[in-house]
Amino acid sequence: MANASTPTAESADYVRIFDTTLRDGEQSPGCTMNVAEKVVIARQLERLNVDIIEAGFAASSPGDFESVRCVAQAVRGPVVLSLSRTREEDIEQALRSVDGAARPGIHIFLATSDIHLKYKLQMTREDVLTAVTWAVSRARQHLDHVEFSCEDASRSDWEFLAKVCTEAIRAGARIVNLPDTTGHAIPQEYGRMFAYMREKVEGAEQIIWSAHCHNDLGLAVANSLAAVQNGARQVECTINGIGERAGNTSMEEVVMALRTRRDQFGVLSRVDTRQIYPASRLLAQTIGQVIPATKPIVGDNAFAHEAGIHQDGVLKHRLTYEIMKPEDVGIPSNKLVLGKHSGRHAFVNRLKELGVDPEAIDLKRAFTEFKALCDKKKVVYDEDLLALVGEEVRQRSDFLALADLRVTASSKTMPCAEVTLRVDGVERSASASGDGMVDACYQAIYRIAGVTPTLERYSVKSITGGTDALGEVSCLVSHDEITVAGQGAHSDIVTASALALINALNRLRVRQELRAGRKPQHLAAAWDLPKSSGSAKA
Ligand code: KIV
Ligand code: ZN
Repeated sequence: MANASTPTAESADYVRIFDTTLRDGEQSPGCTMNVAEKVVIARQLERLNVDIIEAGFAASSPGDFESVRCVAQAVRGPVVLSLSRTREEDIEQALRSVDGAARPGIHIFLATSDIHLKYKLQMTREDVLTAVTWAVSRARQHLDHVEFSCEDASRSDWEFLAKVCTEAIRAGARIVNLPDTTGHAIPQEYGRMFAYMREKVEGAEQIIWSAHCHNDLGLAVANSLAAVQNGARQVECTINGIGERAGNTSMEEVVMALRTRRDQFGVLSRVDTRQIYPASRLLAQTIGQVIPATKPIVGDNAFAHEAGIHQDGVLKHRLTYEIMKPEDVGIPSNKLVLGKHSGRHAFVNRLKELGVDPEAIDLKRAFTEFKALCDKKKVVYDEDLLALVGEEVRQRSDFLALADLRVTASSKTMPCAEVTLRVDGVERSASASGDGMVDACYQAIYRIAGVTPTLERYSVKSITGGTDALGEVSCLVSHDEITVAGQGAHSDIVTASALALINALNRLRVRQELRAGRKPQHLAAAWDLPKSSGSAKA
């Protein structure tokens, strides 16, 4: 459901949100997702009401092709597109990957800066013009939604850039993107580039101008907003600002800046802002990211008023120190939502209010786990529910699952863990001792799984207050040059730790299968996705 002031698709003037969490975001180390996870994120992007989802770079790997294909079939509202170079084989793969989309698109790019032409591409400016014309017209023979990006636009010669944009428009591009690929631009300069192109480029008024910024100098959001002030009507961004190096433009910051300072920008996006917080949490849980407490909009402290003078002001009148309302971005009010007497109907309703699609989860299992949690905890908060559902979602497509865990420890003896896992449906047990209870448990899991990865990172977070709170564990493990994240949530920290490691090992297996050229078909089955046609060769 959109907000009351949300523009409709028919509005003449609004800022399109092009979400590239699944492509530019996922490209950064530690942010990789498997096909099933991407589909879950894409469904949340659809609930957010983003205009465009960049689902991957189809020609880059069979896994990416599969992700774009599955996302294209899973969502109906937003345009789904694949990135593509100006090469024939890339364009064919991209077109095939979005074949099943209700609203298919393609995003073609080629660098335009002299530094990229000379050192990376070994192409002349003439070569670039020819390649752009060929690639864009080729794609337009098949699709209407064709975007062209001038990679490293912000470090390109403006006169040449204007020529490239003119050629792309002549060849049929509907959207032209001017990326600040290296995060080098500053707002005034980036805004002026848009003003210049809109004035000099032939056909500039027929297309949508798009901004795509990286955050190397911490200016991605400011640069994107400067582009909007100079006529850009599409912003390319990611949830939580994930992406290469310092990240991409953060979706939630741009959307809320447009909304909060509408007096300055005069244009809005069509995003349902109440889905922002659930989206941020879902992504963070999926990739094992810890969101800094001070992160605007979605960080734990974003709406917390600690200083006495501020608290006093907010109590007297909210607007003294608050420029946005937490409920407008979907932050749960941390109130008691349900108890042990709550029925299934109330449970489903609350999930829907929190932005969770009950059809995307095993409801029976989630409800049983909710009841078990009610028995353990006196109060169950919205965030507990989101963590519980996240855990249920994670376990659906797994080949490794926790069946039993016993840990014994005393201050005089070494902790010992006995673990039973279901490995592809068969129960296997092992015991081990370790430096602490978590270590003992991890050693036992390694024995059963037959792999000992390096534990790169391990962190515990209490989801809500109190000693009975759900604990959320995130870990990052690497093995055989593959790095994967894992998450687990449980009221017992050792169990949450075990679930996090098991989640990481499941992802490791999927990545190993993809690397070996096998498609993890069990994921498609688990998520009711169409099975591969077998045509995904990159
Ligand atoms: O940063 C960049 O230039 C890109 C392009 C491929 C659009 O991600
Ligand atoms: Zn980028």
